[in-house]
Order: sequence, then C-alpha cells, then structure tokens
Amino acid sequence: MTDHFTPANLDLAHEIIDRYPVKRSAMIPLLHLAQEQDGWVTEDAMRQIAELVGVTPAEVLGTCSFYEMFKRRPVGRFLINICGTLSCQLMGAGELIHHAERKLGITSGDTTPDGLFTLAVAECQAACTEAPCLQVNYRHRYRVTPEDFDILVDELRSEADRGEGPDPGNPDAGGVPRHGVLSLSRQHIPAERAAGPSSPTSDQGPPAWMPPPDAEEQK
Ligand code: FES
Repeated sequence: MTDHFTPANLDLAHEIIDRYPVKRSAMIPLLHLAQEQDGWVTEDAMRQIAELVGVTPAEVLGTCSFYEMFKRRPVGRFLINICGTLSCQLMGAGELIHHAERKLGITSGDTTPDGLFTLAVAECQAACTEAPCLQVNYRHRYRVTPEDFDILVDELRSEADRGEGPDPGNPDAGGVPRHGVLSLSRQHIPAERAAGPSSPTSDQGPPAWMPPPDAEEQK
C-alpha cells in the first residue's frame, strides 16, 4: 500500500518504534502521530500503523476505538466537550448544552460547516467542584454560563480568523492548540530520564527514572 504518513512523519514513526523493545508497544504513540498529522485517525493510517508494528489492521482499530480521544472521523479545529455527568447536570449542563447547540447551529456530535467547531457531550471531566465545565481541545473551562460560552466561541472564532494559534510543541505557549496535537505537548522526556529500548522481560534493575541506590546514600 502507499504510505499514508508524510515522509517526515514516517521517519518519526520509525524513530518512535525504535524506542520500544516490542514494536507493537508503539501503536498508541503512532495513533497520536496520525491524529496529529490529519486531525483524526483515518483507515489508511491504521493500515500503515499495522504494517509498521506487525499487527493486523483490526488490532489497531481495536486499540484506536477503545480510547475516546482518538477520533475516527474529521473533527473541527476546536473540539468542545461539555460535561454531561451528574454534578454538571445539577449545575446547569443541560441548559448549557442546548445553548451551545443553538449558538453553533449544530447538534452534539456534529461539526460546524466551516470546520471550526465540533460539539460533544462528554463524561465527567474530573472537575466536579467547578461544574458546569467543558473542555476546548482538552483544556478545561470552569463554571461556564451560557454567556461565558458565547464569549469563548467568539474569542476562538476571532483567533481562527486572525490565523493565530500557539506553538503546539511548546507546552507553555498558552491559548488553544488545534485539535490533534495534544500529544506534542506531552512528549518532552529529558534524555537522562528516558528508559530506552530495554527488554521488558530481562532483569535490568530499577527503572531508569528511579535514582540509583548510591545517589540516595551520597546525600
Ligand atoms: S460531573 Fe462534570 S466534571 Fe464531574
């Protein structure tokens, strides 16, 4: 089959695979890479990942479909997840969801025709004391009123109109990186803490991220 990953991402995919003693362990990082490239995980991407890590496409689909954060159809630049679980419902999430649907002109699960916003109702976002809450590309917003929602959408729209957006590779950049690049702000493992490709079945001593025993004794 033809490559789905761009040449640069294919190189990166091989680099990622080489970090693991077992190729299939790279499956989730490669799914993140595919989502980062396209904004969602396409069937072609899953087929190529299967080839790269030596499993069947069905196994890649099984992993991809297990995790809510991997999207298997196009998503807008801003994914707005409104929490629909109990605490948020008690604090007005139902009204907020209806308001959001009216404001964006779509129903939950859909994307605006300009491709900017996807609206979804999500499960508890672990911020129940700040209900009702939502996330934009997995960045929390707390105690959101319908008025706050309008301001948020207008701000995001004008950010998109200005063509602005923070550097997704910089975790301190602030703002809302486009959907699909969350993994980029998490893959900054300092070289001295990287575990490297050691076999999980061999006895290698304590994990690389633990201080060596003599480091404790020298204190
Ligand atoms: S119920 Fe909404 S964050 Fe927990």
